[in-house]
Amino acid sequence: MSSQKRKIVVTSALPYANGPIHIGHMVEYTQTDIWVRFQKLQGHECIYVCADDAHGTPIMLSAQKEGITPQELIDRVKVEHQADFADFQVNFDNFHSTHSEENKYFATYIYNQIKEAGHIATRTISQSYDPKAEMFLPDRFIKGECPNCGAADQYGDNCEVCGATYDPTELKNPKSVVTGETPVLKDSKQYFFKLGDYSEMLKEWTRAGHIQKEIANKMDEWLEEGLRDWDISRNAPYWGFEIPDAPGKYFYVWMDAPIGYLASFKNWCDKTGHDFDDYWSADSKAELYHFIGKDIARFHTLFFPAMLHGAGFRKPTAVYCHGFLTVDGQKMSKSRGTNIKARTYLDHLNPEYLRYYFAAKLNSGIEDIDLNLEDFMARVNSDLVGKVVNIASRCAGFIVKKFDAKLSDTISDDSLNQKFLAAAESIANDYEGREFSKAMREIMALADLANQYIDEQEPWVRIKDASQQQNVQDTCSIGINCFRQLIIMLKPVLPNLAKQAEAFLNVDDLQWSDLSNNLTGHSINKFKPLMTRIEKDRIDAIIKASKEAQATEAQLAPQVTDSNIDPIADEISFEDFAKLDLRVAKIVKAEAVEKADKLLQLTLDIGIEQRNVFAGIKSAYKPEQLEGKLTVMVANLAPRKMRFGVSEGMVLAAGPGGKDIHILNPDDGATPGMRIK
Ligand code: MSP
Ligand code: ZN
Repeated sequence: MSSQKRKIVVTSALPYANGPIHIGHMVEYTQTDIWVRFQKLQGHECIYVCADDAHGTPIMLSAQKEGITPQELIDRVKVEHQADFADFQVNFDNFHSTHSEENKYFATYIYNQIKEAGHIATRTISQSYDPKAEMFLPDRFIKGECPNCGAADQYGDNCEVCGATYDPTELKNPKSVVTGETPVLKDSKQYFFKLGDYSEMLKEWTRAGHIQKEIANKMDEWLEEGLRDWDISRNAPYWGFEIPDAPGKYFYVWMDAPIGYLASFKNWCDKTGHDFDDYWSADSKAELYHFIGKDIARFHTLFFPAMLHGAGFRKPTAVYCHGFLTVDGQKMSKSRGTNIKARTYLDHLNPEYLRYYFAAKLNSGIEDIDLNLEDFMARVNSDLVGKVVNIASRCAGFIVKKFDAKLSDTISDDSLNQKFLAAAESIANDYEGREFSKAMREIMALADLANQYIDEQEPWVRIKDASQQQNVQDTCSIGINCFRQLIIMLKPVLPNLAKQAEAFLNVDDLQWSDLSNNLTGHSINKFKPLMTRIEKDRIDAIIKASKEAQATEAQLAPQVTDSNIDPIADEISFEDFAKLDLRVAKIVKAEAVEKADKLLQLTLDIGIEQRNVFAGIKSAYKPEQLEGKLTVMVANLAPRKMRFGVSEGMVLAAGPGGKDIHILNPDDGATPGMRIK
């Protein structure tokens, strides 16, 4: 590896500002952060910037739903995101927002440059419009039946059942997710970026080693098909930047999102007195890397390079894609409790466990990576606690108690420390090439060697022999130096452990270059356990908390328009229907049932008699709200014996549950006992 100091800019994808960071995101931020910390440890200048992706329809609608302004929403979420990242030891040099002055400046500038060069076209197109919400609908805000396989409840862009992709106008029975209305088509003028003008440049660029092979192959499909013009405008109401010469038109969120990398970097330059052009001008000597998930490759390997090129900026040195996180072999799932928020994890476990596990799994490819919870626990306990930390704990006690906390004046046998140093080059290459799993394996193999060495030397036996004291001090000094080397090599992954280890070793901020020297005649500090084992109950607690979070969210934000809408049940005959005896009933008495947190006990008057009914509606009604009300009950349902008594029928209510339950109420004029036919 060259010893020249490199100038490097690194980004992770900008998380959307309307949702919490989850452990899936953390794959990316951990991968990037490890790479950045490695570069810094090598002594390079490496600037890591990120931002919240704060524009677009989903953010506008989330804010509306909460009854706050988009600005309030993105301000709050930014604070939460930054806290999550900081606690996961993700060390951005700058974290900004796409809703910023800098981003407005660059988005406008890039647009104007591209436009002046003749690469913007305008056309009138017909798009789905929600007449009730008075807004155009993004594909994901329209649901209906798949035009290919007929599956119900599919999004406007592709079918999750058969995989077909289509236009939202092709959906059968389309409904707006915002209001449930049937969308209509409406014409409007839109602004397009003529990507096809950059086909030749992109064909060359995507094959010049800047992106992974698998991604280049995928992009080839698009390039061969011929790049279509890309619609970069959206109609008001839209939360974003208005296009300069087009009142009522806004930049599409994906137009200004990647520009957010430049904006965050500019914000950093202004704070620190660096020159933006040094890093972003077309002839810049700095390196530029974007870490992203494979789902957003097209934006980063076709659209963004074209924008940069068109506006006279440099293009990325490389775009690095990673795969998606699965938990126990399956997609993260809210109902299984595996859609784990970063904060939920942090409430229960040390973030460095997960950083290490991800490192142990990550490589330079784009395959998905699996968090197997059993394996996670076993791996962390055996590698970090059982191997690495164990070396220090085995040696420190003797040094501190028997040798006045002082390491030997010389390294009696430097073969082991030399071996570690020799391995460091290949480990560095693995870090550089994002082969973290290989690096972790090599580091753990070294830890095994150190433990073996201590086993063979048996300092705990020799310490009893007066003539062997020097030998014990030497062995433990070698062990401590091995530990120090391992800590240097693990420092990009475990910055906090490294910090504690530095305090224990009584040394300053360790660098990669420190691998070649040893601590001799040096006083160390008393050893405190640097890391404890993961206990199974912590993991169970995370899953439980994630399930509960899902349940409360469902209660707080019931969405009838979303995927929880009940499908229509199997058809029944008129005879079946006629069997139902539905009656108007007056709720004469309603009271809470002790020890039953869902049930209310109702006394219902149906004219001819009174019925006792237990109804699971306690989460939605206070008893006093119900007394005196008319409702509808099934009067001929077989009585059911329950823990609290016999229920003689059922009241009819609608809704998904929780607070969102609505009992049926007949029109004025109905009287108790009337049969519904
Ligand atoms: N806002 C866009 C990115 C704009 S970049 C100019 C976005 N945001 S996101 O919040 O949905 O995702 C942020 C990053 O996290 C993306 O790179 C995405 O691929 C990654 N991941 C989101 N979920 C993930 C997993 N379950 N697993 C691994 N990475 C995941 O996309
Ligand atoms: Zn389908």
